[in-house]
Amino acid sequence: MFFQQADPENKLSNISSHHKKTAKNMNDRTNYQDLPENFPEKSAETNISEAYILNLCELQQMQGAMEQLKQDLKASESRFRNAIAKNADGIAIVNKQGLVCFANPSAEALFNCKAEELLGQAFFGNLVVESSACDIEMDADIIPQVGEIEAAGMRVVQTEVEAIRKHKANAVVEMRVAETEWEGEIAYLATLRDITDRKRAEEMLWLYDRAMAATSTGVTIADATNPEYPVIYCNPAFESMTGYRREEILGRNCRFLQGNDTDSEALEILRKALKTNSECQVTLKNYRKDGSAFWNALSVSPVRDRSGKLTHFIGVQRDFTDRKQAEEALQNSESQSREQSAQLAAALNELKATHSQLVQSEKMSSLGLLIAGVAHEINNPVSFIHGNLAYLKDYTQDLLHLLKLYQQHYPNPVPDIQQETENNDLDFLAEDLPKILSSMSIGVERICQIVQSLRNFSRHDDSQMKPMNLHEGIDSTLLILNHRLKGNGEIPPIEIIKQYGNLPPVECFPGPINQVFMNILSNAIDALDDPNSQLTFEEMSENPSQIKISTEVVGNFVEIKIYDNGPGITEEVKQRIFDTFFTTKPIGKGTGMGLSISYQIIVERHEGKLYCTSELGKGTEFTVKMPIVH
Ligand SMILES: Cc1cc2nc3c(=O)[nH]c(=O)nc-3n(C[C@H](O)[C@H](O)[C@H](O)COP(=O)(O)O)c2cc1C
Ligand SMILES: Nc1ncnc2c1ncn2[C@@H]1O[C@H](COP(=O)(O)OP(=O)(O)O)[C@@H](O)[C@H]1O
Ligand SMILES: [Mg+2]
Repeated sequence: MFFQQADPENKLSNISSHHKKTAKNMNDRTNYQDLPENFPEKSAETNISEAYILNLCELQQMQGAMEQLKQDLKASESRFRNAIAKNADGIAIVNKQGLVCFANPSAEALFNCKAEELLGQAFFGNLVVESSACDIEMDADIIPQVGEIEAAGMRVVQTEVEAIRKHKANAVVEMRVAETEWEGEIAYLATLRDITDRKRAEEMLWLYDRAMAATSTGVTIADATNPEYPVIYCNPAFESMTGYRREEILGRNCRFLQGNDTDSEALEILRKALKTNSECQVTLKNYRKDGSAFWNALSVSPVRDRSGKLTHFIGVQRDFTDRKQAEEALQNSESQSREQSAQLAAALNELKATHSQLVQSEKMSSLGLLIAGVAHEINNPVSFIHGNLAYLKDYTQDLLHLLKLYQQHYPNPVPDIQQETENNDLDFLAEDLPKILSSMSIGVERICQIVQSLRNFSRHDDSQMKPMNLHEGIDSTLLILNHRLKGNGEIPPIEIIKQYGNLPPVECFPGPINQVFMNILSNAIDALDDPNSQLTFEEMSENPSQIKISTEVVGNFVEIKIYDNGPGITEEVKQRIFDTFFTTKPIGKGTGMGLSISYQIIVERHEGKLYCTSELGKGTEFTVKMPIVH
């Protein structure tokens, strides 16, 4: 060791010079100071011998005291040496020339070389350099160069330097230099503390701080040991995001950013996460200092110490406003385009329906025209027959009367006439002829009725509303459908029950209204004639098919109910019966147009109502309700 080799007795005396002055134990232990200061005066010989004895004695005493002093000094030195040797800080003594004249083991470790290598080396500017790596010029007085602080009346400086290490990277060192004495000369005691790790940690911390400052994401740290979770750190991005300055934020709970409309669901998630010390992510509305709102995409996570104890919460905040707005815009445009395509689809459907309705009404109107033409054509000859039948009846009566007179006045005619009379059974002929004529006139009457009905039905002057006798319309329709009502060998006839009320003429478009009656009545007949119904002819006869038609005035409306005791309609089908093209009938029979056209005619053209009530197995009733006057 350096101490053993470097003559400690001698060299340490310098170091301990100060120590000597202050070591109290020496005063306590030695008693040489207690010796009498003034000795009594005696005769010369006595004095000499006495003095000799006394001196001897004193000498012995002094020798003892010196011995004691030496021992004390040694003990003190060894304590001091020990203290220096064991000191964790490197200690070097540098003489006036700036050369190392002492180094402790920690200094050896610091410079990574033996003390003897250090001894005699220039210290300042060589073994230690300024952190900036510029040389420290060794001057007569180092102290003014590095600054000066006061410590117990001594000149002491403290500075940060770099220690140049052998075969090792430089270390950052905190150096304290104090004036001391070495071999009677002024020297410097340098205490060196390796702060490389601390410096590195500080540097990292500084880097983290730079990163925090550079990011545009808000970062906050809250003290988790305080139930209020006050913010103890926030980065610049959080300041600019919220518009609050750091000093306005620190110490507060972040809830001051919220408003009345901050999403309570998100807050509940936050509360729950904080309560259970778990992570959470929410997006919630916050307000800046200037009152403007922004969307905050916040994530909060717990921080624990090495023992697992919760110490902090870290909050990471991102301004989500742009994304939120973009999302909303996207949603809007999506819903807009959905709406548009729905509108387009609806328009297309409507177009299809209108097209089909046009085709249908075109058909109906050509049918109407045909019927009207036929009715007109038949009407003339029939009126001709109808008109002449009365004359024919009269003339026949006259002729028969004349014949009777002849028979009275000429009872025995010539044989030829007698023969002819017998051949022709003149009596029967005279009796039957008027009967034939009256049955003919009934037939012609019926033809006239039918023609009238056809003309009624085919009224197709739809340019404006006209008062219409609805009963006539219904009857005409029934007449046209008569062939389906009569029944045949397979299907029993359908009974028509009319419960007509007292209806005034109703303002409407007669052609389309007749078309509605036609659609509803033919559906009723279809339902009653349903080939799928498993009923036998007998069962059907026992429970005869019926169509009941009732009309009445209800307020300003007329109400026409058309009921059939057919199979009824399931709820599922009922939802769709007014849809265009909806049919349950086989292809060729059903078009799915009838009710949708009827709905349009009643609801849209006549501002009325058309609805259906039905019970499975009991029957179906359609109600047409429309205003009497428009
Ligand atoms: C670290 C941390 C950061 C937070 N940052 C915000 C924030 O930016 N905006 C916000 O509205 N709430 C934030 N909160 C949540 C509130 O501070 C508070 O916990 C929340 O409003 C629920 O608690 P309360 O019911 O006591 O208000 C944060 C919480 C923590 C722990
Ligand atoms: N009186 C009724 N009884 C049972 N079902 C009916 C009745 N009237 C209409 N429907 C049902 O409504 C559907 C649609 O009728 P409609 O529009 O006239 O078309 P189509 O008669 O061509 O099928 C019919 O297919 C049928 O299923
Ligand atoms: Mg139909």
